[in-house]
Amino acid sequence: MNLKKNLVFLGMMGSGKSTIGKLVSHKLKLNFIDIDLEIEKKTKMKILDIFKKKGEKYFRSIEEKITLRKLKEVNTVISLGGGGFLNKNVQKEVLLNHFSFWLKYDSETLIKRIKNSKKRPIAYNSNDIDLKNLMKKRSKIYSKSLFKITCDNLKKNEIINKIINIYETN
Ligand code: S3P
Repeated sequence: MNLKKNLVFLGMMGSGKSTIGKLVSHKLKLNFIDIDLEIEKKTKMKILDIFKKKGEKYFRSIEEKITLRKLKEVNTVISLGGGGFLNKNVQKEVLLNHFSFWLKYDSETLIKRIKNSKKRPIAYNSNDIDLKNLMKKRSKIYSKSLFKITCDNLKKNEIINKIINIYETN
């Protein structure tokens, strides 16, 4: 049995954590877990509604619980929500026991992608300046990840190949 560490994708909203995570999991024949989807499954609510009806604090506590539980799985690719890695317990576990990948994009690119995204309450309720500040602040935290993939000038396939190469040589 392959006992390598899990791959964990982190980074801002719109950085492709779910898309890339899923594709990488297929190529490596590993399971795939998208934490946002797990939260929606567990609460039977859309993320937007959780934020609206229960508030961000509630969302973050469910996010922590589900993320820590899912990180116990093996042979898995896990895509965190954009705020998941900000949680100290999640951060500690990810850095200690997993291969973490920050999918990094220029803030302009990300803002274009997530602006007015109805399914992303934080993006929907922020203007460009707020988002830029948020990205600056979060980048410092994301940069603690084991591997950083600068995605701006790469095609999807190139991003995936880079990740697989790192995984196979570590
Ligand atoms: C969030 C990112 C979202 C989702 C929630 C909060 C964030 O996930 O978890 O809307 O704080 O950045 P994606 O990064 O998958 O959009």
